[in-house]
Amino acid sequence: MTQKITKAVFPVAGLGTRFLPATKASPKEMLPIVDKPLIQYAVEEAVAAGIDTMIFVTGRNKRAIPDHFDKSYELEKELEAKNKLRVLDMVRNILPSHVSCIFIRQSEALGLGHAVLCAKPVVGDEPFAVLLADDLVEDGKRGCIAQMTQQFTKTPHSLLAVERVDPNETDKYGIVKTTSTDNDKIGEVQSIVEKPKPDVAPTNLGVIGRYILTPAIFAEIENTGRGAGNEIQLTDAIASLLAKEKVLAYEFEGKRYDCGAKLGFLMATVEQALLHEELKDDFLDYLKTLAKKYTK
Ligand code: G1P
Repeated sequence: MTQKITKAVFPVAGLGTRFLPATKASPKEMLPIVDKPLIQYAVEEAVAAGIDTMIFVTGRNKRAIPDHFDKSYELEKELEAKNKLRVLDMVRNILPSHVSCIFIRQSEALGLGHAVLCAKPVVGDEPFAVLLADDLVEDGKRGCIAQMTQQFTKTPHSLLAVERVDPNETDKYGIVKTTSTDNDKIGEVQSIVEKPKPDVAPTNLGVIGRYILTPAIFAEIENTGRGAGNEIQLTDAIASLLAKEKVLAYEFEGKRYDCGAKLGFLMATVEQALLHEELKDDFLDYLKTLAKKYTK
């Protein structure tokens, strides 16, 4: 089996109910953190890992996503006429030219496992990455998926990005039990369960929205019935894959923001603004003034 990961799957069919009414007519993946939509952060992370085929599993009300990664003739013409060359260059280079995008429609929202299965005809018999754009992982030196693809070349097994989560919030995550000790960055997954309540969670090691999966996962998803939330869960398919293949959990380097929740989204916005070349100084001054005003 090839160890080079060239394809990434982006399940983007979710309804984004937590951000209504903002997501009533436009996709949650298009919500911007400062000036870039969430989906673009995830795609850039995949590109930085050497991935060149982006597979979007989309649904209703998601037309803005293909439009975002497509050429925009009118906009380019207008920017050219107004001599806004810097912005023009940015708009033209949303994606490097060697990268291609494929869109698959998930006609029924049957869950994350089902969304990944929709990508099977395009992924074929190769290992691939899955990125959930809700999770923004700030890339320190190396992006999360780049760290994982490098790890995969050394240990060619399915790999789940994990981090320690608040023990009271295990019911928001796939939770794994591994062979790793506290100091290990990588461990073999012994069990995985979707969103267990804190009192029954085996650990607080939560899966975040970054996966490298071998193609064997597809057969497991096909045999997975509905699980938590009455959906076909990727976590349940990974649990049955464990009986056949080794699966590893990887404690990545970097900070993850849960942009599927309002607080995480705001935290990511503030921190990205503080890293933004044009904004950072003025924004920091503003935050200092605010802090004074609101500190009792
Ligand atoms: C999904 C997965 C869950 C994982 C999480 C990471 O849940 O089902 O196992 O821990 O993503 O963000 P969701 O957040 O889509 O409910």
